Amino acid sequence: MSKVIVIDRSGVEEALDIRPDLTLMQTITDAGISDLLALCGGVCSCATCHVYVEGSPADALTPMSDDESSLLDGSSHRQANSRLSCQIRMSAALDGLRVTIAPED
Ligand code: FES
Repeated sequence: MSKVIVIDRSGVEEALDIRPDLTLMQTITDAGISDLLALCGGVCSCATCHVYVEGSPADALTPMSDDESSLLDGSSHRQANSRLSCQIRMSAALDGLRVTIAPED
């Protein structure tokens, strides 16, 4: 099965199965990784699901919306590879994606 690698704030890595019916945020929270608060439940209004992504073909990621980019602008930890994990739909094309949970704002 395709996997995504998630690295929590203490540096622990975990390989999670990719289920195309979930978002990346749901994949991480369903695995019990508590660093990702996801307080708004995935409606793109809190930015507590902020992650850094690397290692995937750029066109495999769900494109970033203006709303997502605006929310990320409010983070002092925004980087070029920042994303809100609730806005990324999982797919087999993301196999091998590495995701690091961003520091808390
Ligand atoms: S869970 Fe709130 S913006 Fe992603």
